[in-house]
Amino acid sequence: MGTDLHELLRSLRVWDPAVTALPPLDPAGAPGDPLELFTRWFAEAAEAGEREPHTMSLATSDAEGLPDARVVMLHGADADGWAFATHAGSRKGRHLDARPYAALVFYWPVLGRQVRLRGPVAAAPAEEALADLHARSTGALAAALTGRQSAELGSTDELARASEAAWERAGREPDAPAPSWTLYRLRPDEVEFFQGEARRRHVRLVYRRTRDDGWDRRLLWP
Ligand SMILES: Cc1cc2nc3c(=O)[nH]c(=O)nc-3n(C[C@H](O)[C@H](O)[C@H](O)COP(=O)(O)O)c2cc1C
Repeated sequence: MGTDLHELLRSLRVWDPAVTALPPLDPAGAPGDPLELFTRWFAEAAEAGEREPHTMSLATSDAEGLPDARVVMLHGADADGWAFATHAGSRKGRHLDARPYAALVFYWPVLGRQVRLRGPVAAAPAEEALADLHARSTGALAAALTGRQSAELGSTDELARASEAAWERAGREPDAPAPSWTLYRLRPDEVEFFQGEARRRHVRLVYRRTRDDGWDRRLLWP
């Protein structure tokens, strides 16, 4: 028999002191702009050994308001927003077309940290998406060229054939266009920083965008 799920769940720990550090977060000393704190936390996560700090969960909702979530890569973060790329015709692409608003979540367990963002999402100009894609790996281009993301697949052989052709083209034509590949930016109107604390006095510091594009900072009960 396989391992019992519930037994295994009971045996697991969150923030094992052997592998996790829980740095204090002093809200009074936090910067005025969440981008600055995000950039600092991102660097600290990478430095602390978080292997893939640039993976994040992206939540969208369909035309009826029903939610969905999946993992995507962070392509950048600046005053224009947090960037990710995907196919416009994928499920998430269709969601964003119907409801251009989304949420992102990062979890960096090595420091007991979570960052949540919510805000409107806009597609960047096509040239920008293409430049972003062409600056990435041959594999990224091949995946973008394979296309049809989220459509039903008849068989793995069908994928193998399409992918083989896409890899071959990506190698031969590194500037190949991938028309449905789209760069999106989420411009947050809310960013929450969660710092875990050993006695469960977790700090939740939330930044809310003000009318004049400044930031209001609040604490939330954990
Ligand atoms: C670590 C990781 C990174 C991923 N990065 C991306 C990405 O940057 N863009 C993307 O379209 N899909 C990415 N995916 C695949 C998505 O999770 C998802 O399967 C795909 O985009 C289809 O989602 P959808 O049907 O909701 O549109 C990634 C998956 C994993 C596990």
